[in-house]
Amino acid sequence: MRLTRTSDLWWKNAVVYCLDVETYQDSSGDGTGDFAGLTQRIDHLVRLGVTCVWLMPFYPTRERDDGYDITDFYAVDPRLGTLGDFTEFVRTARDRGIRVIADLVVNHTSDHHPWFQDARSSRTSEHRDWYVWADTPPEDGPEGVVFPDVEKSVWEYDEGTEQYYLHRFYKQQPDLNVANPAVRDEIARIMGFWTQLGLSGFRVDAVPFLLETDGQDDADQLPDPHEYLADLRAFLGRRSGDAVLLGEVNLPYPETARFFGDQDSSRGDELTMCFDFIGMQRMYLSMARGEAAPLAAALRERPAAPRDAHWATFVRNHDELTLDKLDDDERAEVFAAFGPDKDMQLYDRGLRRRLPPMVEGDRRRVELAYSLLFTLPGTPVLFYGEEIGMGENLAAEGRQAVRTPMQWTADKGGGFSTADAGRLPNPVVEGAFGPRRVNAHDQAQDPDSPLSRMRTLIERYREAPELAWGDYEVLDTDDSGVLAHVSSLPEGAVLALHNFSDGPVTATTTVPGLKGGRLLTDLFTGDTVKAAAGGKVSADLAPYGYRWLRVNTPLDDPDRTTAV
Ligand code: NOJ
Repeated sequence: MRLTRTSDLWWKNAVVYCLDVETYQDSSGDGTGDFAGLTQRIDHLVRLGVTCVWLMPFYPTRERDDGYDITDFYAVDPRLGTLGDFTEFVRTARDRGIRVIADLVVNHTSDHHPWFQDARSSRTSEHRDWYVWADTPPEDGPEGVVFPDVEKSVWEYDEGTEQYYLHRFYKQQPDLNVANPAVRDEIARIMGFWTQLGLSGFRVDAVPFLLETDGQDDADQLPDPHEYLADLRAFLGRRSGDAVLLGEVNLPYPETARFFGDQDSSRGDELTMCFDFIGMQRMYLSMARGEAAPLAAALRERPAAPRDAHWATFVRNHDELTLDKLDDDERAEVFAAFGPDKDMQLYDRGLRRRLPPMVEGDRRRVELAYSLLFTLPGTPVLFYGEEIGMGENLAAEGRQAVRTPMQWTADKGGGFSTADAGRLPNPVVEGAFGPRRVNAHDQAQDPDSPLSRMRTLIERYREAPELAWGDYEVLDTDDSGVLAHVSSLPEGAVLALHNFSDGPVTATTTVPGLKGGRLLTDLFTGDTVKAAAGGKVSADLAPYGYRWLRVNTPLDDPDRTTAV
């Protein structure tokens, strides 16, 4: 069966857009964003070219981790609206060609979740075994505290029952025990519930932690965690054939690739997509150095995803820009280039910043990053506000710096809310990146704005099936500042060139299989570049410039089914 490039595999050329309902649009004037407000903003997403919205947690919460500490998996936080408002949004989005996925946060619950309240009420309670307990914190237990500024251990003593419970994240987020079949059933039920209400899948939070069972007494006898993930995927497939699991797995490449599941099967049977944390970090190193090599090496190292799966690429997300997979010197280079002040850094491993302020508002460098996002193989995932070049507010606490209200207009409150500043979930950005200078309304009128450029990038990406569906290859170039990669299908190929350096260059590369004399067309300007003998292509690039060059294989070419 060769029905490989159909919309059944919609995630392969999707444009995913992550947002938090709480900070997107307040429709009631109470200072908190809500589903009704988000629904009013659907046209912005449609015009941008978004095909899938990823909702950050919108469930009832104690707000100890910005919604990632859930007290009820089957409801909508009343501050954000009702289940009815949620359904109206999903329905409206679907009507406009946009699917909706949401965070599935089941590594842990809030410590105020009724399950944990019951679990800690006595050692024999019904839900005791839904969490992970130990008499003394095991010496060989899980290592690595995720939030070292606040937590010193992943075990917390529960005075009432005189045992310790495991919490990978904050102590207010006790880890669920996924080795318990009752917990597994409940997780499936949660997935079934939301898919029934129209979700097209989930962004799965903290996947390796969710599956981990080391630290538990009987870890050796517990079922294989990857089998469990495959079970979950199979369940999801039975409930909703086109639903996806987009997983947060920040591990070295070979370990991350295991989460796609069975490598021999073309489909992969675990996560549909894994975020490319390594590629993202190396991209920043390349940008800091003005050298293509770090990113080129990552792309060459990166294992191929199974045919129907995909990597997910991103420039920024809602967390700190983690640089944990760089070595100390490399991380220091990125810190020096993009976040030299201590206040910009978090946990010694990342930056609580958005890209435009990191590069002092240099549009060329910002665009370079987004051109990479849409040409590097993988599903591009945007974080709200990136389309207009929003900055961060370092006055906000920790990771909240990048979770400020969406900037719709130049008004006070950025058009996000009419409520007083003190009632907003996070402070609005101030200064050069604040709403007066950076807002969606003004940019929508201006054909040269960052928003207009982002729309164009998305349009071209959607028009170029090679980028989403093709096989890719990183090519050698004669300039260390330039990354060249080609994505090819039998019908054609796109050669992408990116100049990380601050000087103009004429870059030369050889495209395998390309015949001399063939014309390559610039997808933005329509200009052409002629290939020389042996498939040599030379193209001019501005400082931090980029080009997308399409190579078409004529229909009567006898080599049509080979490379390009
Ligand atoms: C990863 C999420 O991205 C982060 O924001 C959250 O704090 C942790 N998981 C815990 O849920």
